[in-house]
Amino acid sequence: MKNANIAVGLLSATVFCLTFSAAATAADVNKLIEPCTACHGKDGNTTEADVPNIAGYSVEYFASAFKKYNKQERPCVETEVRSGSGKGTKTDMCKSIKDLSEGDLNQIAEYFAGKTFVRTAQTTDPALVKKGKSIHEKKCENCHSEAGSFPSDNAGMLGGQKMSYLKSQLKLFREGKRPMTKKMKPKLESLDDAEIEAVVHYYGSIQ
Ligand code: HEC
Ligand code: HEC
Repeated sequence: MKNANIAVGLLSATVFCLTFSAAATAADVNKLIEPCTACHGKDGNTTEADVPNIAGYSVEYFASAFKKYNKQERPCVETEVRSGSGKGTKTDMCKSIKDLSEGDLNQIAEYFAGKTFVRTAQTTDPALVKKGKSIHEKKCENCHSEAGSFPSDNAGMLGGQKMSYLKSQLKLFREGKRPMTKKMKPKLESLDDAEIEAVVHYYGSIQ
């Protein structure tokens, strides 16, 4: 009986601590994500055409993207703050994360991973969409499954992502400025400009 009481006491102390630390973390994370949402929108979805939606990406993909930006393996495109007090300030992704600790970045990743990716409605050409779908199924779906919408592929979110963002990243891949996995390289390099345009329309058409 006595032992059982001690166990209950310990259990409620543990529950109290967990609740307390969860509350503290929630407060911190809101501060941490504030600069991100000034560009990526509330909860990681934005109407800015050149800024990718980042809600619902996997924690693993975030960690890997942060690492690539930090090591400057992946180019940081110059951009500007879209809303809030810093609106109009020129900056980029490398600068946006360089002062954050691994723990902070992990909290930020978990926060956005827990939000829902909103597919952006965009104007697409039906003929290009059809052509792009067939290219995607042959050359891309293996790694970008569910029309490039499966977070656990850890390969970005392509379906319903901003077409302008996809276009600029595909250009960086093809120019050798952003690294890609060995197996994606030959697939992407086999596409001509018109086929690239077609896959972008296909991803833009996913709703
Ligand atoms: C000033 C605007 C701005 C701020 C602030 C900003 N971002 Fe970005 N972010 C961008 C743009 C533009 C891109 C795409 C171009 C690039 O990769 O440089 C991007 C790309 C990304 C990507 C890559 C998405 C992909 O599909 O690979 C991630 C992840 C990301 N941002 C997360 C964050 C997080 C987390 C924060 C806050 C710590 C943040 N961003 C702050 C504008 C911003
Ligand atoms: C062998 C697996 C593989 C194949 C095949 C592949 N990809 Fe990828 N792709 C990846 C991975 C992994 C990433 C994430 C790269 C990173 O972390 O920087 C990626 C990233 C991308 C991105 C950037 C996503 C973002 O959010 O920034 C685009 C766009 C893309 N792939 C398009 C394609 C297209 C189009 C094809 C077909 C022609 C293709 N990929 C084929 C594995 C693949």
